Amino acid sequence: MRTRRKRGLLLLCMMLSAGMMLFCTGCGRKTQPEDETIRIGVSIYDQYDTFLSQLMEYMNRYVAEKKNDGMQISVLVYDAAASQKTQNEQVQQMIEEGCRVMCINLVDRTAPTSVIDQARKHNIPVIFFNRELVEEDLMQWDQLYYVGADAFQSGILQGELAVSIFEEDPSLDRNGDGAVQYVVLEGEAGHQDAIIRTEYSVKTMIDKGIPVDKTGYAIANWNRSQAQTKMSQMIDEYREEIELVLANNDDMALGAIDAYQALDIPEKERPVILGIDGTDVGLEAVRTGELAGTVYNDKEGQARAIVDLACALITGEGKEELSLTDGKYIRLPYELITAENAAQFRNR
Ligand code: GAL
Repeated sequence: MRTRRKRGLLLLCMMLSAGMMLFCTGCGRKTQPEDETIRIGVSIYDQYDTFLSQLMEYMNRYVAEKKNDGMQISVLVYDAAASQKTQNEQVQQMIEEGCRVMCINLVDRTAPTSVIDQARKHNIPVIFFNRELVEEDLMQWDQLYYVGADAFQSGILQGELAVSIFEEDPSLDRNGDGAVQYVVLEGEAGHQDAIIRTEYSVKTMIDKGIPVDKTGYAIANWNRSQAQTKMSQMIDEYREEIELVLANNDDMALGAIDAYQALDIPEKERPVILGIDGTDVGLEAVRTGELAGTVYNDKEGQARAIVDLACALITGEGKEELSLTDGKYIRLPYELITAENAAQFRNR
């Protein structure tokens, strides 16, 4: 037990020294006695994921802003390092550390049983976020919640963006065959955002009257360097044929740009590249024009919703104001980002 706890604390120290997070801050309510510290545990599936590390940075800022506002809270953050087994152990540590709400970014969204069982046994509510478990699992207990976004909407917005770009400039259909030859860079196999984004982005283009041809497809696990490798292979194979790259997130879109850059292919000879997320690096690429556009995945809104819901569950106050769907879900809307409005999304 001691070894496990040490590992957790080591992680916390590492995260602190990496400047990523938070700790011992306020939750914005004054109903808590001063000598009582409320603990919230957070476990993220992989601290190297760009979107999630930015979400956590914002959560830290949001919690810090509330720090002097009343109740004392310590937020314990763990990195599951892509292992569900490690995350299950972290849940046990959170319980031992006295966490009163656990916020879990599942490693394997199909395997929440251990987390749910442990939480239920100790009567500790769980807020799952970003990696959505199936509804039947969320319904297993009335103290389970989900904070995220509507994956369908992100796919539809990316598809609409592609439609407007190709309608505005027909010369982007380089071979002039009246159809858009596209490749997909997909996130993790089995992740709700990957499956739905790909399907709805393509479906939207077809529904809006743009004929499409699927030229290539590769899974790159949300990861920039994996995407660069996969994109290089597809460029090798299809070269000029590719007119559009639909990436399930900004990091993979940036990996595609890296691949073209590494091959010294000038910007005017590259296809249209689209991402999703609006991370800092993604926004910068939209500003410079390398990325034709992206879709904002509201990390700030999601971080605020997680903290506000955790506070409401602990204090018993304010849950109604959060307007949960079916008493369980908070989903933040996506927004379209192009060079015209990219600046508005910086430092939200
Ligand atoms: C998605 C996000 C990806 C990645 C993934 C991890 O919502 O767009 O960039 O962070 O979540 O679950």
